[in-house]
Amino acid sequence: MKKIKKAVIPVAGFGTRFLPFTKAMPKEMLPIIDKPTIQYIVEEAVKSGIEDILFVTASHSNKRAIEDHFDHSENLENLLKSKGKDEFVKMIEGISSMANIHYIRQKEAKGLGHAILCAKSFIGDEPFAVLLGDDVVIGDIPATKQLISAYEQVGYSIMGVQEVQSQDVSKYGVVAIEESNSNLSKMNDFVEKPNINEAPSNKAVLGRYILTPLIFDYLQTQGKGSGNEIQLTDAVKRMMEKEPVYALSFSGSRYDIGDKMGFLKATVDFALERDELKDEFLEFLRTKG
Ligand code: G1P
Repeated sequence: MKKIKKAVIPVAGFGTRFLPFTKAMPKEMLPIIDKPTIQYIVEEAVKSGIEDILFVTASHSNKRAIEDHFDHSENLENLLKSKGKDEFVKMIEGISSMANIHYIRQKEAKGLGHAILCAKSFIGDEPFAVLLGDDVVIGDIPATKQLISAYEQVGYSIMGVQEVQSQDVSKYGVVAIEESNSNLSKMNDFVEKPNINEAPSNKAVLGRYILTPLIFDYLQTQGKGSGNEIQLTDAVKRMMEKEPVYALSFSGSRYDIGDKMGFLKATVDFALERDELKDEFLEFLRTKG
């Protein structure tokens, strides 16, 4: 079985939910405390054993800021070195050497399925991971690592799912699975953004996938679906007729960073995990309640 060493991270979205911030800045650079959300995603990939990452980017919203963030920054490193700020030097150097990062532009905003199709020649004939930047997941075992372990068990595509509240199913790709006692189950349906009454379950795919390269055959011929976009969900559903696809209920706290409330919750939770911020911040929060 081929080892999963490559990941695709689509970063081409407009981020309209975060206007005006996203007028000239990519939403992926929104920081949780002091770290851009995209760095949390890349760190998860690296901790999961990923060595090569392809960002599918776009010409709008200064997406180049993402390239700059993961690039070597000689001037800053020299400045920090001259000031003896070794801890920061290590931090800054670490960001640019975490993984081999590659970039391709999605030339038209045609949806997630089309963004993944842009990775076809980078991926070749290997299984690969997909991580979506709006979903930050924190837990003992990185979510992508959990999906890779599941892939190593079954050898087929894995959708990372968690249960969401019934009123939220229409925001996600929702799966139907075969009865099983395990957290890894074969899927028998997959629907993108179903109406609340038509959702096959409340298990939603939350931005983590392992895909076999067969997906490209289906993405190439995939017509538009929900939101008039080429949906990854629809291509996976068609692929299920050819080979099995599994859903893994992964563990970890997941934050929808693309949503203002999710972003605020992440900021508060992450601040309460930081030793240097925790006590004073908690005291401040208590004055609000
Ligand atoms: C995308 C996918 C959807 C998935 C969601 C997870 O939707 O199309 O299937 O459940 O990400 O965050 P988007 O949030 O881009 O509308």
